[in-house]
Amino acid sequence: MTTAAVTQKPSAPFVRGLKCRECGSHYDKAPVHVCEMCFGPLEVDYDYDAIGQVLTRATIESRPRSMWRYAELLPLDGPPAVGQATGLTPLVRADRLAKRLGLKEVWVKNDAVSHPTLSFKDRVVSVAVSKAIEFGLQTVACASTGNLANATAAQAAAAGLPSVILIPYDLEPAKILGTSIYGARVVGVKGTYDDVNRLCSEIAGKYGWGFVNVNLRPFYAEGSKSYAYEIAEQLGWRLPAHVVVPMAGGSLVTKIGKAFGELEKLGLVAAPSRKTRIHGAQSAGCAPIIDMVLENRDHVRPVKTPTGIAKSLAIGNPADGFYARQTIIGSGGWAAKPDDAEIVGAMQLLAETEGIFTETAGGVTLGAALKLVRGGQIGKDDGPVVICITGNGMKTQDPLVGKLPQPALIGPRLSDFDELWNATST
Ligand SMILES: Cc1ncc(COP(=O)(O)O)c(C=O)c1O
Ligand SMILES: [Zn+2]
Repeated sequence: MTTAAVTQKPSAPFVRGLKCRECGSHYDKAPVHVCEMCFGPLEVDYDYDAIGQVLTRATIESRPRSMWRYAELLPLDGPPAVGQATGLTPLVRADRLAKRLGLKEVWVKNDAVSHPTLSFKDRVVSVAVSKAIEFGLQTVACASTGNLANATAAQAAAAGLPSVILIPYDLEPAKILGTSIYGARVVGVKGTYDDVNRLCSEIAGKYGWGFVNVNLRPFYAEGSKSYAYEIAEQLGWRLPAHVVVPMAGGSLVTKIGKAFGELEKLGLVAAPSRKTRIHGAQSAGCAPIIDMVLENRDHVRPVKTPTGIAKSLAIGNPADGFYARQTIIGSGGWAAKPDDAEIVGAMQLLAETEGIFTETAGGVTLGAALKLVRGGQIGKDDGPVVICITGNGMKTQDPLVGKLPQPALIGPRLSDFDELWNATST
């Protein structure tokens, strides 16, 4: 689609506008994200009574197999301009992994195979770029730790819009290449993600672009809810007993909590006897939200210099840290921070038991789940445990180099193979 063809679509009856999370002030739908009264974050305000009139399990199940089957709970005024095929990724019953964890019922929600760029960021960007087009914005942009860069560049290309992507200069090569390929203008910033983010806030104010995670953030963040709606639907309209969620800025975990609450409010799932315990995962090299939980603190103490291999989660000053902790504590969940060796071990464990190759962020999530089982926060006999795998291992191969067996090298004769086989099999 070209920008010239863009027209404002009729207003959806289900979105009232934006509302400040702190003081409740109302705003019209616009590319804004901060309350002018109190500087609180703005959030999309839905008319749940109206949604409840039309949205049933049967309606949802009759729709195409994508995140848009929950359209009433997403903040677009019309059909999505991009990402029509995004969402409804597999929820995999993981019995071999469950055995290794010592649990009864484990599921992997697998956004490593998300369309089109192999991470859950496709969901948030499908909403944000479609919303940018509804607002008539001519350029989209983002500050990213890698996956958001891939998703924004791809969806902008699909929409025929130019994109400007700002990243810390030292991201994994596959994340950079997987952004440039779409013709995006990629800018490496000599600094941390927090430096990039601060710079993007200034650019957004000056250039009038649609920054998916700055001025479009209230709309963008809502896309994450689809991940949680799908978990509930794929479990047969049940909420899990536990969910383990990777965190960077803390938006995904907050929106999973919100989405489960919405499903209950709308009667799409039965009220569970016990709330889903929502657990947070970050790497030991950058764990500002985990430390808030472990130290029972409600303010973020920023990590100035994140370290370690989990670069996609390396946000030292998380925008939604306060709400992420509130979601975790309010659900009765807990938090864990595996180190790099544990992250790599968990990546291998998931690949070897379930055939799923996840990126370092997935290693963080499974590594945290292992710690939570050992710590007793996830009980051996508890009901469904969902591990949130949100990105693909092909993008972060560097930490595995030298850690896996090399292929054996032989000549092309059967006798060469016989020799190898006899030497290695016992
Ligand atoms: C693969 C992956 N998982 C999880 C997250 C965390 O998302 P959030 O910033 O919403 O906490 C990110 C963020 O970049 C990510 O790339
Ligand atoms: Zn306010």
